[in-house]
Amino acid sequence: MAAHESRPEDWVPPVVRPRRLRATASLRRMVRETRLSVDQFVYPIFVAPGSGVVEPIDAMPGQFIRSVDGVVDEAQRVADLGIPAVLLFGRASTKDAHGSEASSSDGAVQRAVTAIKAAAPELAVITDVCLCAYTDHGHCGIVVEEQIDNDRSVARIVDTALSHAEAGADLVAPSDMMDGRVAAIRTALDAAGHADVGILAYAAKAASAFYGPFREAADSAPSFGDRRTYQMDPANAREALREVDLDVAEGADIVMVKPALVNLDIVARVRDRVTVPVAAYFVSGEYAAIKAAAAQGWLDERAAALEALTAIVRAGAQIVVTYFAPDAAQWLRGEEMRD
Ligand code: PBG
Repeated sequence: MAAHESRPEDWVPPVVRPRRLRATASLRRMVRETRLSVDQFVYPIFVAPGSGVVEPIDAMPGQFIRSVDGVVDEAQRVADLGIPAVLLFGRASTKDAHGSEASSSDGAVQRAVTAIKAAAPELAVITDVCLCAYTDHGHCGIVVEEQIDNDRSVARIVDTALSHAEAGADLVAPSDMMDGRVAAIRTALDAAGHADVGILAYAAKAASAFYGPFREAADSAPSFGDRRTYQMDPANAREALREVDLDVAEGADIVMVKPALVNLDIVARVRDRVTVPVAAYFVSGEYAAIKAAAAQGWLDERAAALEALTAIVRAGAQIVVTYFAPDAAQWLRGEEMRD
């Protein structure tokens, strides 16, 4: 035996060999524990005011900001790929201290909801409910003496959610992280005759560095301070469970953990804890990191994205909000051809 193949004299060959079940593609397919499906994907779309707008987002290659006309075409394409839902984010034409346009029936998101529902009725339309893209200071709530006033913010968040429900949203998704907003939205929706509109709560949302590219797209970076008084400290997992418990108690139909990839432990713990569906948001910075590395030739984009999506589902998310949704839907269609 060649020296580099030497084994200890007393070494006993293993009886248990996990490699047996990895030997062929068929065996690997048979024992695979986690399967990705297009049914798990929600695709985020940015809506701009005006018409004829198609603007690429620099830090999110492959993603665009579109006016309602273009968003309808994009939503149709997404529906044709079998993706069950889109999540809409709006850009403002005017900003003020109260984020007035966030709740305007004529806002980009409200018009997009109605237009998408008319063009692709089977596609579920979820709306992000927040003020940050509409306030002149870029915070997710109402500022009083440089502080974010929780209860005044909740009132504006409720108005915004109601305007989305009026426009025809299937689910509203508050992302502001104010205390008590899920209960307030539920009560207001029910009182306004929207008992059938659901709430997807951004329940455990960290104050994360991974939202950077999104803030460029939504033009929503805070002009002073940061979001640490309302978004969670990324160091806290038990507090994430507390936030999730509160949102479930307040009537959330689905709870979301965000960002997904850097919080897989929290996704797994939430999955074990609640009986409502669990979503996770594979956020802009996580997408951008893979895209940037792939553009350099440092990562295989398809393999890296599918591995990350698989990890998010394996951790316990049954819904994944992802900018990769249309590409992943196409990759999965070709999956039986590859291993
Ligand atoms: C709005 C909101 C943000 C994201 C979703 N909703 C940004 C933020 O909280 O600053 C981030 C999504 C992403 O990064 O992909 N509050």
